[in-house]
Amino acid sequence: MKRQLCRIDESPLTEIIDFGMQPLGNGFLEPHNFPNEYFFPMEIGFSEKSMMVQLLEQPEPEKMFHDHYAFYSSTSSFMTRHFKDFASQVMDSGYLAEKAPFVVELGCNDGIMLQNFAERNIRHLGIEPSLNVAQEANKKGVATCSEFFSEDLADAIVRDHGQADAFLAANVMCHIPGIVSVVKGISRLLKPGGIVMFEDPYLGDVVSKTSYDQIYDEHVFLFSALSIRHLFEMHGMELVDLQPQKTHGGSMRYVLAHRGAREVKKPVEAILAREKEQGLDQLETFQQFRKNVERSREQLVSLLTGLKREGKKIAGYAATSKSTTILNYCGIGPDLIEYICDTTPIKQGKLSPGMHIPVVPYERFEKEPPDYAFLFAWNHAEEIMAKESGYVAAGGKWIVHVPEVKVIG
Ligand code: SAH
Ligand code: TMP
Repeated sequence: MKRQLCRIDESPLTEIIDFGMQPLGNGFLEPHNFPNEYFFPMEIGFSEKSMMVQLLEQPEPEKMFHDHYAFYSSTSSFMTRHFKDFASQVMDSGYLAEKAPFVVELGCNDGIMLQNFAERNIRHLGIEPSLNVAQEANKKGVATCSEFFSEDLADAIVRDHGQADAFLAANVMCHIPGIVSVVKGISRLLKPGGIVMFEDPYLGDVVSKTSYDQIYDEHVFLFSALSIRHLFEMHGMELVDLQPQKTHGGSMRYVLAHRGAREVKKPVEAILAREKEQGLDQLETFQQFRKNVERSREQLVSLLTGLKREGKKIAGYAATSKSTTILNYCGIGPDLIEYICDTTPIKQGKLSPGMHIPVVPYERFEKEPPDYAFLFAWNHAEEIMAKESGYVAAGGKWIVHVPEVKVIG
């Protein structure tokens, strides 16, 4: 049902952008599933009080996270290194008790971060409702609990394992509509001197880069430091540090603690001030964002149709969940993009959600390189362009749509 009130504090929401009917971002499917393909009206809204951008309607979590979840974190070697560094920061910053520390991670997926704690024999628990990826984590020696996190689960963890020194999460807090219950759970699970560190795609980057493809079914929220501070303050916690990240096209790592438990670091004030300058607390900013999104769509469709008229062959590079929003919002189907290559076996041989473009193994890209490759995984551009330098050397060109629609190569 379409929400009129903010999930954080029940303040009124104003609609910002209507993306039309959208399928599940990770809903790769086979032709026999077409008649039952699920679509939902995807619109985002904003509350000037909570400063939280959010989907007005979201599919049930069980529709998105289950025993055949298509996203495996460890497909990116860059992200594997990123989470090794994240884990090292936690281990080396004096956040963990000397005796038997305990680390909890929400949405641990295939164990990409917790494997670093498992290797050092640090007590840990990953909360991961998607069973297939949780099983991958188990194979790496990561202890998991395959459930959705909530206050009740937090209490059960405290009962069975004690309170946590560190509560970690990456690219999952923004997925959880019942985030108020999660924050209450965190405040009960965390030791008095414990630390919360989580990161998610950052609203400031989405607005400045017009990266509207960060908006899809799973991302119920787009966070800013302003909205996170508001949310956690409502539950007795304090924002103590902010660490901008390059991952996922621009993310923010939020560091929080029980109120008064830790010193507030300098970046907090500076980044909050910068967000106010950018207008992340103002409705007008998002009205301008809508215009930028509409312009991006016009430019992209005109580029692709123009190339097609010239007889060029266009393929997609990486069947990301983000690409689902672009393809469906812009109405781009197999007539414009012949195939999308992807390294994830569970996606190969299927069709893209909604627009039904074939997803093929990566090798097809090498065998039949297109004239133009739409880089859907633009957030992994550095890693991909480095390994695909041969494609450009042979005359191939990249299409990117962020921060503006352009051809590279
Ligand atoms: N942390 C990983 C995975 C992000 S994908 C990374 O950054 O690469 C989001 C993950 O969170 C999925 O594996 C999904 O199954 C899980 N998830 C979704 N809702 C959750 C919830 N309520 N509690 C715990 N995990 C959840
Ligand atoms: P993400 O943008 O949500 O991280 O999804 C990444 C997707 O891109 C995932 O399906 C794997 C795919 N991928 C490739 O196919 N090749 C690559 O080189 C990289 C980095 C990702």
